[in-house]
Amino acid sequence: GYRAEDDYDYLFKVVLIGDSGVGKSNLLSRFTRNEFSLESKSTIGVEFATRSLQVDGKVVKAQIWDTAGQERVRCFRVAGSDPEMGPLKGSMRWFKLVAAFNILKLEHWNLNECRMPGSDRVTGAHRNVFAFCMQQEKGKIYRAITSAYYRGAVGALLVYDVTRHSTFENVERWLKELRDHTDPNIVVMLVGNKSDLRHLVAVQTDEGKAFAERESLYFMETSALESTNVENAFAEVLTQIY
Ligand code: GTP
Ligand code: MG
Repeated sequence: GYRAEDDYDYLFKVVLIGDSGVGKSNLLSRFTRNEFSLESKSTIGVEFATRSLQVDGKVVKAQIWDTAGQERVRCFRVAGSDPEMGPLKGSMRWFKLVAAFNILKLEHWNLNECRMPGSDRVTGAHRNVFAFCMQQEKGKIYRAITSAYYRGAVGALLVYDVTRHSTFENVERWLKELRDHTDPNIVVMLVGNKSDLRHLVAVQTDEGKAFAERESLYFMETSALESTNVENAFAEVLTQIY
């Protein structure tokens, strides 16, 4: 029968992790909106999108979180609206998060490059708040951000780029961060993305598969560009969670 769009049986939080440029945001946009962008634009802060799927006759709503894999995040911003992020609202908290994120991720922090959501440059007053927060609470706030990203996650896609071996070597580091912040029962899918670039492959399928087996992860090679296995990868994670 008819079901309202927001009528679901289960809500599962899934996080995307992996180095910058491996294609996390494009996997997300392919899965949730069937969109792909060739343009390279690093994610700013944290974003999420949702999509509902039928699993075993039940409606499973996936809330998929995406953040920048790069060390130098320009600005931290909470996009969308989510009850879980509710307590982070309010400008003071927002500033604290911006400040903390940047202290730990940016070597050459430049306040003039930081933008407010929906406006352009930071003003002098904003700058003072940033400066204050940076001195006061960095460790505490950073831990709060990291745990907010992972909090409640029941699934993860750990993504590397099959054309860049270094992104595969860093999988171990990402896995450690994930294990440190999530429940041991979390369903993890190792994803080798950009499988369409066959002539540039630097990580063989067997290498990915062997690592996944050793670490008890699910494994799939995908192409967000060609739409290969994207649906399968997310659906498998959601099915395994369910
Ligand atoms: P950060 O936000 O910096 O962590 O990067 P990301 O992991 O979100 O990567 P993003 O999705 O922005 O993709 C980076 C670049 O790779 C973009 O230019 C994409 O067009 C390209 N890309 C992503 N997926 C694929 C793919 O499956 N095949 C090919 N050929 N290119 C891809
Ligand atoms: Mg991104």
